[in-house]
Amino acid sequence: MASPLTLAPERLSDAPLADALIAHAFGPGRLAKAAERLREHSAHIPELSFVAWIDGRAVGCVRLWPIMVGATPALLLGPFAVDEAERSAGVGAALMRRACEAAKDASHAVVLLVGDEAYFGEFGFSRARDVRMPGPVDPRRVLVRALTPGAADGLAGPVRAAPLVARREAPVLALAAE
Ligand SMILES: CC(C)(COP(=O)(O)OP(=O)(O)OC[C@H]1O[C@@H](n2cnc3c(N)ncnc32)[C@H](O)[C@@H]1OP(=O)(O)O)[C@@H](O)C(=O)NCCC(=O)NCCS
Repeated sequence: MASPLTLAPERLSDAPLADALIAHAFGPGRLAKAAERLREHSAHIPELSFVAWIDGRAVGCVRLWPIMVGATPALLLGPFAVDEAERSAGVGAALMRRACEAAKDASHAVVLLVGDEAYFGEFGFSRARDVRMPGPVDPRRVLVRALTPGAADGLAGPVRAAPLVARREAPVLALAAE
C-alpha cells in the first residue's frame, strides 16, 4: 500500500525543507524571475502555504504571498515544487487544491501565478491579459484564478508586493463547548 500523503500549513521549522525543495526544483535561476521581485522583500503567508509530507519527509510545497494587482488585493502563488521522485502522483494537484481552498476560506478572492496554463488550467487558472509583472515574463504564463465569481473581472495594472492583504473579515467559527 502506498504511504499516505498529508498536507499541513508550513511551520517556521519547515522553512529550510521547503527552501531546499524549491532550490532543487528551480536552481539558482529562480532568483532572476520576475515573481522573485515580488517576494524578495515580502513574506509568504504561513497559514496559506503548505508542505506535503510522505512518511515524515517533506515532498512538496506551495507558498502564497500578498500582492496588489493595480488596486485589487490578491495572492501570488509560488514557488510550487514537488520532489522529483514523487512527481506525477497527484502531490502537486493536492497542494494546489489545498492552497486555493485555504485562500478562499480566508476570504481571499484572486490568486495570480506565473506558470504553464497546460498544467494550471485544470485548477481554474487562465491568462491574466492586462496584468503587468515587475520584470520580463512571457505574458502567456501570467495566470489568474478568481476564487469567487467575477473577482478577477477587469483585473489590470502593475503587480506589486503588499505588506498586508486587505480582505473581508474571515468568518468567525463558533466552537461548541461540551
Ligand atoms: C509542477 C510540479 C509541482 C507538479 O507536481 P506533481 O506532483 O508532479 O503534479 P501532479 O501529480 O498533480 O501532475 C503531474 C502531471 O502534470 C504534468 N506537468 C507538470 N508540469 C507541467 C507543465 N509545466 N505543463 C504541463 N504539464 C505539466 C506532468 O507531466 C504530469 O503529467 P502525467 O501525470 O501525465 O505524468 C512538479 O512537476 C515540479 O516541481 N516541477 C518543477 C517546478 C515547477 O515547474 N513548478 C511550477 C512552476 S510555478
